[in-house]
Amino acid sequence: MIKSKVFVCSVCNNITSKWSGRCEVCDEWNSISEDNGISSGAGKGTLGNTRGTLIKLTGLSSESALPVRTLSGIKELDIVLGGGLVDASATLVGGDPGIGKSTLLLQAAAQFGQTGMKTLYISGEEASAQIQLRAKRLGLKAANVSLGTETNLRNILTTLKEEKPELVIIDSIQTVWADSVDSAPGSVSQVRATAHELTSFSKRHGISVVLVGHVTKEGLIAGPRVVEHMVDTVLYFEGARGHQFRILRAVKNRFGPANEIGVFEMTGRGLNEVPNPSSLFLSEHGEHSPGSVVFAGIEGTRPLLVELQALVAPTIHSQPRRAVIGWDSGRLAMVLAVLESICGTAFTGHDVYLNVAGGLKISEPAADLAVAGALLSALYNLSLPKGTVIYGEISLSGALRPVVHTENRLKEAAKLGFSRAIAPAQEKQNSLPHIEFEKMVDLKSFVSSMFKEKSG
Ligand code: TYD
Ligand code: MG
Repeated sequence: MIKSKVFVCSVCNNITSKWSGRCEVCDEWNSISEDNGISSGAGKGTLGNTRGTLIKLTGLSSESALPVRTLSGIKELDIVLGGGLVDASATLVGGDPGIGKSTLLLQAAAQFGQTGMKTLYISGEEASAQIQLRAKRLGLKAANVSLGTETNLRNILTTLKEEKPELVIIDSIQTVWADSVDSAPGSVSQVRATAHELTSFSKRHGISVVLVGHVTKEGLIAGPRVVEHMVDTVLYFEGARGHQFRILRAVKNRFGPANEIGVFEMTGRGLNEVPNPSSLFLSEHGEHSPGSVVFAGIEGTRPLLVELQALVAPTIHSQPRRAVIGWDSGRLAMVLAVLESICGTAFTGHDVYLNVAGGLKISEPAADLAVAGALLSALYNLSLPKGTVIYGEISLSGALRPVVHTENRLKEAAKLGFSRAIAPAQEKQNSLPHIEFEKMVDLKSFVSSMFKEKSG
């Protein structure tokens, strides 16, 4: 049978018959490569005519108990996993090279080993001596953890069959290759084939598997996106360059809430947990300077107070700059447009910069009002009252929309010594005794009450 060539995008999995520099579906550059693992399926006949076996069907309710979980003892990791590692589950940990994936997983391996779990750490990137040296530097206990360096899938599976571990960590999936697939390690077809083999083998044998995957923007190594649908849990390890803080974020979790985050700090002796992240993303709180506001946000199920900083400066360019770090630039443009058209505040002729302190990335629309507050405060050179937090979503009409989890937001604010909240008026308001509430109906009333003397 002659196989026609098939090309696949490593970001969105779109399949095409010819190569191009940019994917038509997701617009990503350089993400398309030849795939050797898919046959076009021509000439197989219609499936409906063949006889398959009957599927065993069951009802919705089941007698089976909740999944068995093991706590690592690294609290931030356990939270992100949804309350510990589920037995025989498959997890993908993705992140930029050098962000600390190997460090995190080596620490986790040692912790799981301590609980009595037989753990295997297989590295295709570093020599055993190198890993041992790191373990020594991190002061890790070696109980129940075995190291191996291997990239051949056949050898890895044979070892798993023989050793029967309860947890195996593969660092990284891009280095593993299957001799049955005819392409280079790290290519889309290799990553897909090896991840599939590893996850299905582990499921059959009751082994929990953790795969490490590098993400590169250039798409040189197949992004772990192709693996995301095969595993139960997808965690991303992220952090800004130049910041020692690292966020572990669950983007998919079949056993717990998604979007849950864990916060770590990279130190000379490995990753430390940060049990109270809010205090970390606030600089000198209480002492608001113009352009800085505190946003009461929610990440997953956890409240998080973050400082937003804005700078508005007269520009010399014909096209003023709009630069954002840690937030969506499209949303910044929207907030600026609403402020200009509805409230008449003019940002034309000004460069606008927005920064989320601590290198955190936030994506909640509830940050809209806080961003507007930071922008206006920078523009008018007026600081907001001390000890104030802000949240609320802005709609295109300039109305303020209520947001979820208000009680959690306010509780966290009160815990950290804040005494005032500026937020949309909400029907069901759980007011807290220690927080003075300033309800805003729309953006216009926010501007006129907060920046009276300037907005005229
Ligand atoms: P690593 O875990 O190797 O990253 P990844 O596996 O994601 O590629 O971590 C690499 C970085 O972490 C490296 O730049 C050094 C730094 N690091 C520390 O700062 N402290 C430590 O104790 C360790 C082990 C690493
Ligand atoms: Mg590594």
